[in-house]
Amino acid sequence: MRTLQAPPLGQGPPEVSRWVREMFSQVAGRYDFLNHLLSFQLDRYWRRRAAALLARELSSGGWVVDACCGTGDMALAIRHEMHTRVLGVDFSHVMLRRALRKSRSRSQLFWAEADALALPLADKSVSAVTMAFGFRNLADYDAGLREILRVLEPGGVALILEFSHPGDGWFGRAYRFYARSILPRVGGLISGLRWAYEYLPFSIERFPRATELAEQMRRVGFLNVRYWLLSGGIVAIHMGHAPTSA
Ligand SMILES: C[S@@+](CC[C@H](N)C(=O)[O-])C[C@H]1O[C@@H](n2cnc3c(N)ncnc32)[C@H](O)[C@@H]1O
Repeated sequence: MRTLQAPPLGQGPPEVSRWVREMFSQVAGRYDFLNHLLSFQLDRYWRRRAAALLARELSSGGWVVDACCGTGDMALAIRHEMHTRVLGVDFSHVMLRRALRKSRSRSQLFWAEADALALPLADKSVSAVTMAFGFRNLADYDAGLREILRVLEPGGVALILEFSHPGDGWFGRAYRFYARSILPRVGGLISGLRWAYEYLPFSIERFPRATELAEQMRRVGFLNVRYWLLSGGIVAIHMGHAPTSA
């Protein structure tokens, strides 16, 4: 039964988190299909690029945590790129079940149901934390960054792949028209969840610009923060390191 209510905008983190979890749990069955359709398959390329950048950066073979892993595509892209153990974490049980089904034949992939704002991991215990299209949905961005920093080993890598903001030229205008007018209609029609796909462009537009997110990462304590804009700025990959001495 599809009964998603309007997002609880302006309410506190627990309500926002509950709504986000409920929204992704309801959309899970159509999530991959709609991702590939609405991005014209570009989402696969974006994750592959992010996984390749991570592989270039990581020397040791420690744990990589893919937080907000959803149906597992980023974790799978990382495993494809490097021989390392990857733990996918998400708070939607339904999304995780799909990830598990997709990864049955793959080794070194693990899944855990947990909140990215309270990871069930010891301090300084993992080599990298990634988030693909999940960070934007967190109820508190600073808290999300602090939690990543907490679990990273000294020198560990944080990688955030998220939607960003193409400029004001024709491409940016065309993209915004697509994101505001076409995407919610097609997504809403196919998923049967109007709010989920109206929330998507809204959450993208209110998300910080790439320079602002980089600044926020630095403020929280990440070092060597850099970012790459892909596909005319539709998405950005941010990377930062945990300090080497505490
Ligand atoms: C847009 S999906 C992205 C999934 C996947 N990373 C990908 O690349 O397709 C966002 C995911 O983040 C999860 N999520 C959002 N907030 C979360 C939180 N606070 N803790 C854990 N998972 C969260 C949702 O359940 C959803 O599966």
